[in-house]
Parts: sequence; C-alpha cells; structure tokens
Amino acid sequence: MEGIKFNQIGVSFKGSGSYVPEQILTNQKISQKVDTSDEWIKSRTGISERRISSPEDNVTEMGYKAAQTAIEMANWDLKTIDLIVLATSTPHDLFGSAPSIQAKLGANNAVAFDLTAACSGFLFALITASQFLRGRSFKRAIVIGADQLSSFVDWNDRRSCILFGDGAGALAIEATSEYDNLLGFDMRTDGDRGSFLNLQSKNDKNSIIDNIDFLRGGFSSIQMNGQEVYKFAVREVPIILEKLFKKTNYSSDKVDWLVLHQANQRILDSVGDRLKIPREKILSNLEKYGNTSAATIPLMMDEAIKNNRIKQNDIIATSGFGAGLSWGAALIKWG
Ligand code: UT7
Repeated sequence: MEGIKFNQIGVSFKGSGSYVPEQILTNQKISQKVDTSDEWIKSRTGISERRISSPEDNVTEMGYKAAQTAIEMANWDLKTIDLIVLATSTPHDLFGSAPSIQAKLGANNAVAFDLTAACSGFLFALITASQFLRGRSFKRAIVIGADQLSSFVDWNDRRSCILFGDGAGALAIEATSEYDNLLGFDMRTDGDRGSFLNLQSKNDKNSIIDNIDFLRGGFSSIQMNGQEVYKFAVREVPIILEKLFKKTNYSSDKVDWLVLHQANQRILDSVGDRLKIPREKILSNLEKYGNTSAATIPLMMDEAIKNNRIKQNDIIATSGFGAGLSWGAALIKWG
C-alpha cells in the first residue's frame, strides 16, 4: 500500500487532542516510597514527574476527553464519525471501552472497538483505522491511545515503577481522494521475546462446586527486564525506520520531526543519533509524563501541534515499541 496515487483513497490528518490526570507524582515523592532518587531517575530516563489517575480518570474518561478535543479541532459533526479505535492495555471494561467513549461523545453512527498492542498500540490502531479509510469502508475515524498503567505498576519495584504514568491522546483522520498523508508504515511483533515485558493474568483457583474448579480473573503487576527492552528498542527502532525511509523514497534528512514512543530519553537520543536526526527535531515530553504507553505518541503530537511546532505539511517519522514484543513505524505528512 506504499506510494498510493491519487485515484486511490488516502488519509488526511485533521485534528489532535489529549488529556492527562491532574495528580502529579514527582521523582522526589517516589523516592519516599522506594530506594531511588530524583538524580538517578532523571539521568537514566529523563523523567521528572508523571500523572496518576484518580477514580474519575479511567481510560474511558481520559480517552473521551482526548477524542473530544481532536473532534473540536477537526470541526466535525459527531454524526459524521464512522469509526473509533481505542488502543489500550488497561481498559475500564475488559469487554471493550471504545463503545462507552462512542456513547459519551454521542457519535451514534460510529463503530467503536478496542485494540491492544501495549506501547505500539496507538501506531497499530492508526494503521488499522487508515486501512478502513483507504479501503473505502469508512470516511472519518478517531484513533485514541489511552492507558492507566499506574493501576498495574508494582509500586515497590524501583526498576519499573519510576517509568510509567497515565494519559490519553487522539487523532482525527479522514479519507481523501486528493493525496495520502500516511506516506508509509510497517509493523512487527516477536512473541519469542515477550517475556521481557508483560502484564499477565493472575488466575486464582476457586471452586464452583465439588470437583469443578474455575480460575478467577485478575492481573498481576508489570514485569519488566529493563535492560533487554532497552537493547531491543535501540536496535529495532532505527532498523524499522530506515527500512521505511527506503520503501517510501524518503531519507532521515527530509524528516521535520521524530516522534518516538516516549519511553526513555536515552532511547530517543540513541535512535536519533543512529538515524542522524539532530536533537532539536526529536520531540520529547517524557520529562512531564513518563511512559504513558499507548498514549505517548498522540500526547506528544497534540502538544507539538497546539504549540505550533508541528505545522501543516511537516514530515513526521514516528515509531512505537514495547511489550509483545511489538514495534511499528509510520511516516506522516501532517495535514
Ligand atoms: O514501553 C517500553 C517500556 N520499557 C522501557 O522502555 C524500559 C527500557 N529500559 C530502560 O529504560 C532502562 O533499562 C531502565 C531505566 C529501566 C533502567 O536503567 P539501566 O541503566 O538499564 O539500569 P540497570 O537496570 O542496569 O540498573 C543499574 C543499577 C542497578 O544496581 P546495581 O545492580 O548496579 O548495583 C539497579 O539495581 O541501578 C539500580 N537501579 C536503581 N537505582 C536507583 C534500578 N532501578 C533503580 C532506581 N533507582 N529506580
């Protein structure tokens, strides 16, 4: 589907939105709970603080608020929205949270569903939604990334609890026959390396009646091998982006902005160095929010769009990576 031409249907980017909870957890405060320090966290990750959901800030609420802002920017009549895809690993309802967002928005004509691919989730959802537009099934879509990992972090594990925060972001995309601003994409998974980062179900054995047991559902906390995830990210992300540049006849010097999943500033800098993309083109807001999983990419894009850094027709190279293991990349022209 790369290099699509004008008689075909392409994707245009019409709006962005985001939302973060008000509660701020600083490095200083985390160091009251586990043996760490502001200096250690900042120097190893670039993170200073993160947002933590209150009971009112579940994924449905955060996703709804981000979507609402993106729709306002796109200036769409709610009845014209055909599709809502919510990327999340922490749904408010395991049966799916996207339909609740649809209902709260009043987007009655849309079909809404959840998609899970951890920190690659937003990118996978964006590509999924785009294929519905390119395939002429739908015209207008809202793609949301929202996560509440604070509920699944082991707050006694200093190796992982320092990284994560909560938030949501959304983009409004529309089918057009005039151009295609999703210039290219790629997606990968490798389940063999899945044990490096997971959030598995915890099935407590219970009895229904004598001799018939069942496993009560629930989840344990995030388990992460930080060093392996780090090595995976700094190796695979440049490779997938370089392949994408080749496939689309772009090169890294034509990129206006590198928008990576906000996991660790050292990962962002290392990927930028490998691709020879200068630091001033690497967008970063993880200092304020940490790793908000599926939300990081649209949260970063929305901030850069609203403060006029990303402008119409800017070329954005983006990549999401994380649990699965999963990773993906997309080349976007904004607008
Ligand atoms: O969406 C993807 C999500 N996951 C990631 O992005 C994770 C990628 N990995 C990373 O970002 C880094 O591996 C971490 C930030 C998690 C850890 O940084 P690191 O430089 O790889 O540290 P390390 O695991 O090699 O640990 C170095 C030392 C160890 O002490 P010893 O064994 O050398 O004495 C750790 O016990 O730092 C210690 N340590 C800490 N010290 C203070 C680990 N966590 C902490 C902490 N505060 N929070």
